[in-house]
Amino acid sequence: MNNYLSLYGLKTAPFNITADPNFFYQSSTHREVLSTLNFGVVQKKGLMAVIGEVGTGKTTLCKVFLDHLSKDIKSSVIFSSPQFSQTQLLKTILADFGLEPARLNRFDLVKKLNSFLVDTSFSGKNALLVIDEAQNLTSKQLEQVRLLSNLETSQEKLLQILLVGQPELEDKLNEFKLRQIKQRINIKCRLLPLRKEEIKNYIEYRLNTAKAQDVAIEPECYQVIYQFSKGIPRLINLLCERVLLLGFVQGKNKVTPSMLKVCIKELQ
Ligand SMILES: Nc1ncnc2c1ncn2[C@@H]1O[C@H](COP(=O)(O)OP(=O)(O)O)[C@@H](O)[C@H]1O
Ligand SMILES: [Mg+2]
Repeated sequence: MNNYLSLYGLKTAPFNITADPNFFYQSSTHREVLSTLNFGVVQKKGLMAVIGEVGTGKTTLCKVFLDHLSKDIKSSVIFSSPQFSQTQLLKTILADFGLEPARLNRFDLVKKLNSFLVDTSFSGKNALLVIDEAQNLTSKQLEQVRLLSNLETSQEKLLQILLVGQPELEDKLNEFKLRQIKQRINIKCRLLPLRKEEIKNYIEYRLNTAKAQDVAIEPECYQVIYQFSKGIPRLINLLCERVLLLGFVQGKNKVTPSMLKVCIKELQ
């Protein structure tokens, strides 16, 4: 692996599939969603949702969003798990806000969260709950989230809630029995794949971030990468990682369309 990096003069692997905010590339869709979310949180819009296909960068975007959040916004981030009861969900949220949720029942948990949120608002601050993988929330958990989105003063929402999930989240919200929560969603945005013409910049950005000195990509490659990935960053990463390894095995640091095609066959 180390040799693979040194062939290309790389400091780190440029196409890891982890959600690393250091490699964040501001594509048009990512930029648009980020600014919508900033607006939503600052304006205290309450419930918000981001929908995006697998691998479009939802988790990465959440990390970047949270990293740049003003210090005046207290945040809690949880990954939803369908195994959680409503009480466990609440306890996870409270614990993440730094509150002590032990041995409280559901009613008291909400009461405790509410008084924390009132204090937060009173001191001029704001609170944000992010639920990633929100397509996994059960109907009961979504109902609990709806109840949390009800916490408000007469002027404003006390808790801004961001649901982040795959298109299945939207299907779920369209179910008749969940129409109440659907109606509460004040901001809904979609994270799209990269545009075809952004793919080259995305790849170059990641290579530069990894300090690549000696990688050449033939211009015809980008069309092939687009056809395979349809602009989904995770698929671009998988393919690029593989083609760099192939180049390493073949002792070449120039990526060609035919090398990409070999890799695509392996990936399918
Ligand atoms: N805007 C972006 N800039 C850089 N890398 C990105 C971007 N969006 C996605 N990626 C990369 O794509 C992969 C999948 O991203 P991830 O956030 O896990 O997607 P999702 O949560 O939507 O499934 C990760 O390797 C991530 O680094
Ligand atoms: Mg994710």
